[in-house]
Amino acid sequence: LAQHFVAEQAPAPQLETHATSSSVRGYNVAVLGAAGGIGQPLSLLLKLSPQVRELRLYDVANTAGVAADLSHIATAPRITSHSGAGALPDALYGADLVVIPAGVPRKPGMTRDDLFNINAGIVRSLCEGVARFCPSAWVAVISNPVNSTVPIAAEVLRRAGTFNPSKLFGVTTLDVVRANTFVAEALGLDPAAVNVPVIGGHAGVTILPVLSAATPRLTVPEQQARALMARIQDAGTEVVKAKAGAGSATLSMAYAAARFAEACLRAMSGEPGVVECAYVASSVVKDLPFFASQLRLGPAGIAEFLPLPRLNALEQDNFESMKEELVSSIAKGVGFMNGK
Ligand code: NAI
Repeated sequence: LAQHFVAEQAPAPQLETHATSSSVRGYNVAVLGAAGGIGQPLSLLLKLSPQVRELRLYDVANTAGVAADLSHIATAPRITSHSGAGALPDALYGADLVVIPAGVPRKPGMTRDDLFNINAGIVRSLCEGVARFCPSAWVAVISNPVNSTVPIAAEVLRRAGTFNPSKLFGVTTLDVVRANTFVAEALGLDPAAVNVPVIGGHAGVTILPVLSAATPRLTVPEQQARALMARIQDAGTEVVKAKAGAGSATLSMAYAAARFAEACLRAMSGEPGVVECAYVASSVVKDLPFFASQLRLGPAGIAEFLPLPRLNALEQDNFESMKEELVSSIAKGVGFMNGK
């Protein structure tokens, strides 16, 4: 009753600081793996978001320091700290969106698949928590190999009876961000003005930037298109090599994850026309039960799968060679859940 009274009696100036109807409510966002290389800058960016009401930081260690530090920033989102497995329920209870960058990153010479053994178990246990404590939340999985961890997450939720395929996403936004940046460089444009759909998955050849569908239109000789495509597919490795053992992309990934999280929250609040690429349970391509493509997001999650862009011969070639890898990465995730 007391709480209700306070809300009803809130003074007018306080209400006026919230300009839009969507920001009046705000959403609860949980970051699992919040003290990590991605988790920290991602949490910083989410602390700046007018869409966020409460930001729950969860990690197995070092959470309190990150939370104390961020909590001094003079922006509205409230920061809460949750450290260790016993604190997972509190981090998740009432969460609208759960973002998962928990897990080990690559070192030079490793593929994303080399991370499977450790990260598969981490994603499984965190998603078991999601199923129990916030079964209706949207879930955005960053932990690699995304091509396998998303099928694992789906299977965990399915077994718990809480799987909603419209609300589970593998975050592939960094591939779009990279494609936009590199294409903008080639065109001499501001990257903010460029949009390249990236379909398939999130590893090597499964990352298919559809350069022929870029806006504005990109007209380059085939050799240059090939080079651009290869650079986008290998961009993660470019960072891994440059960091020389200190991890993989964290800052650009945090930017990409914050962009994706913001898109989810805007769609949740009813904003029309929110379109992002993500790796989701899909029937867009026969025999690929998980696939990344352009999605229109709405208040209840995926509202529409946009038709695949038309592919040119080079892209079609790449498309054919991705299928086998994607099928086997999906099977690996499902096999893990079946104890294989
Ligand atoms: P990091 O090692 O710096 O941070 C990972 C954090 O996860 C650590 O703070 C660790 O304590 C925490 N963690 C480990 N087990 C946990 C558990 N059971 N519950 C909660 N937290 C746990 O790694 P970084 O650089 O932040 O990368 C994280 C993941 O993101 C990696 O798997 C990496 O491959 C992936 N990644 C994905 C990208 C994408 O485009 N989807 C791009 C870049 C990285």
